[in-house]
Amino acid sequence: MADGRTALVTGGAGFIGSHLVDRLLSLGYRVVVIDDLSSGKLKNLNPAASFHHSDITQPASAEVFQMEQPDLVFHLAAQTSVPYSTRDPVKDSEVNVIGTLRMLEAARRHGVEKFIYSSTGGALYGEPKGDPCPDDHPVTPLSPYGMSKRMGELEMEFYQRIYRLNYTSLRYGNVYGPRQDPHGEAGVIAIFSRAMLEGKQPEIFGDGSQDRDFVSVDDVVEANILAIDRGDGMSMNIGTGQRTSINRIFEMLKDIIGFKWGPVHSAARLGDVYRISLESTRAQQELGWSAQVDLEDGLRRTVDYFRETAQAAM
Ligand SMILES: NC(=O)c1ccc[n+]([C@@H]2O[C@H](COP(=O)([O-])OP(=O)(O)OC[C@H]3O[C@@H](n4cnc5c(N)ncnc54)[C@H](O)[C@@H]3O)[C@@H](O)[C@H]2O)c1
Repeated sequence: MADGRTALVTGGAGFIGSHLVDRLLSLGYRVVVIDDLSSGKLKNLNPAASFHHSDITQPASAEVFQMEQPDLVFHLAAQTSVPYSTRDPVKDSEVNVIGTLRMLEAARRHGVEKFIYSSTGGALYGEPKGDPCPDDHPVTPLSPYGMSKRMGELEMEFYQRIYRLNYTSLRYGNVYGPRQDPHGEAGVIAIFSRAMLEGKQPEIFGDGSQDRDFVSVDDVVEANILAIDRGDGMSMNIGTGQRTSINRIFEMLKDIIGFKWGPVHSAARLGDVYRISLESTRAQQELGWSAQVDLEDGLRRTVDYFRETAQAAM
């Protein structure tokens, strides 16, 4: 129940954030967004949200807390690209480590009830020893992005221990769905869908046998909503437990779209994990969450979205 509460969504103009904003508004929350629009887009943002064009690495972003007095913070604003983090680890940390610290500091100063963090399962565990990878797997990231997202979790643990600021950390698999940026470096389903719809051959890094756990944005939003009242002081995987190769995604999208050509292969990327799926036992037990969206259905909905946006642009 919203009970007149205000939810602040950092990164609310982004892919996952904009869906979360829609859902929070539908539940009756007053929603405030901080986003610097570095990858997010105003056209994705529900106009009913109060928008602050602000950079979380800058001190002025904390003033939003004074103005808006949020009860809950969903922290999604981040540098989200693994390859970018290997090219510019300092910038990655400025956003993901310092920016997160700034949001936590503002949250505790303004008596926020709970801080719900978008972490990563895909980039935190390195090459996992178990399949699917359990919630308590050792954390051994292979990239600066994985390291900086883990730092965000450690920061929250500190703020809870010292200042009693409650948190939940949600460690997502590869999230996909409508509004994902098809021009970025992350988000293979968006990138492939857009390329195929434009009649271009998608590029596959490496031989395409690498496996990921693809989880729908609707399921991820649901986990965030459930975490408002549950999962206090915990980190947990949010995935389907299923592994799907990049080649398989290519084939599924090819069938859905009716694409005629094969992919183009190029060198594997630095810092990418080879094979991962996430066991979400803790999310099941603590949040009552499990993935509901079937991959084939989710892919169809995503393709429909990209088809509609392509037509609208013509
Ligand atoms: N998409 C995935 O597969 C995935 C997987 C695991 C974790 N995550 C996490 O989920 C969150 C959301 O990711 P997404 O896929 O929606 O990415 P996204 O790039 O669409 O969203 C990130 C948003 O943060 C904003 N932002 C970036 N730097 C900022 C800054 N300095 N100040 C203010 N705003 C800033 C961007 O403009 C964008 O709107 C991120 O924290 C990401 O690490 C995503």
